[in-house]
Amino acid sequence: MSIRPQKPAPATPAPGKLPITELAEMKARRQPIVMVTAYDAPGGRLADEAGADLILVGDSAAMTMLGHDSTVPATMEEMLVLTRAVTRGASRPLVVADMPFGSFQVSDEEAVRNAIRFVKEAGADAVKLEGAGAMLTRVRAIGDAGIPVQGHIGLTPQSATMLGGFKAQGRSAEKALALYDDARALEAAGCFSLVLEAVPAPVARRISEALTIPTIGIGAGLDCDGQVLVWHDLLGLYAGRPARFVKRYAEVGEIITAALAEYAADVRERRFPEERHTYAMPDDELAEFEAKLSEHQEQRRARR
Ligand code: KIV
Repeated sequence: MSIRPQKPAPATPAPGKLPITELAEMKARRQPIVMVTAYDAPGGRLADEAGADLILVGDSAAMTMLGHDSTVPATMEEMLVLTRAVTRGASRPLVVADMPFGSFQVSDEEAVRNAIRFVKEAGADAVKLEGAGAMLTRVRAIGDAGIPVQGHIGLTPQSATMLGGFKAQGRSAEKALALYDDARALEAAGCFSLVLEAVPAPVARRISEALTIPTIGIGAGLDCDGQVLVWHDLLGLYAGRPARFVKRYAEVGEIITAALAEYAADVRERRFPEERHTYAMPDDELAEFEAKLSEHQEQRRARR
């Protein structure tokens, strides 16, 4: 009897979880896919309640959450903590953990080991990694381990220095064609989806048409199969200058600052806490406490 080698089964999806196969069907139906980043349990819950299909625990956390000026310093341990928190908060959306710089570049083995950590230790449904070329074997190896991989090309912030800074990619015919080839190669390597960041809209449209897997755009125009925005950018929580492709849907930062300033003023003016924020105790217990305290203080004085 010959035993056919089998691919390991992917991590079992939790009940109520959006099936990953639904994403390609959404693309086929031309139903836009909604992805947003989140970095903690409340964020995961709110994104789920708002109907997001995918939540990315982006390594943008290095900047938005941890105060670094690039995504490069994000570590596996930090990303695991954040991913674990998001998966506790979100039920339906697929949670994609972003593989931080240094966690997949060295070898296929290390990439698989770290991808497995995201699934086993943090409950991620999938991982994302930046790049094509030498990263194609990583995509294949992680996929062979049963873990869905999302690709990411165009502006790849982990290699922004090599790209000459945080700027749009694929703006010459030659570079656009290279992106097109990378996208096809990532699909062939087994990606379930592909993020296109800061790519001219006509190029993103051609790539989206050429692939059967959905493209998720950020600064890549309307013709991508879905869109992603960073939580802090979308909600007005990030103090830095927003990129051209950011749309702010709220100024939550201003709401938070105003609320904190009102709280600080209330504390300083002794307006907070009010009666309704404090706990009462039965009158007889209070009287007994006062009597016992006087006795107690008397004894302490006598001992001095
Ligand atoms: O880290 C991140 O948030 C990302 C998105 C910008 C796609 O990679």
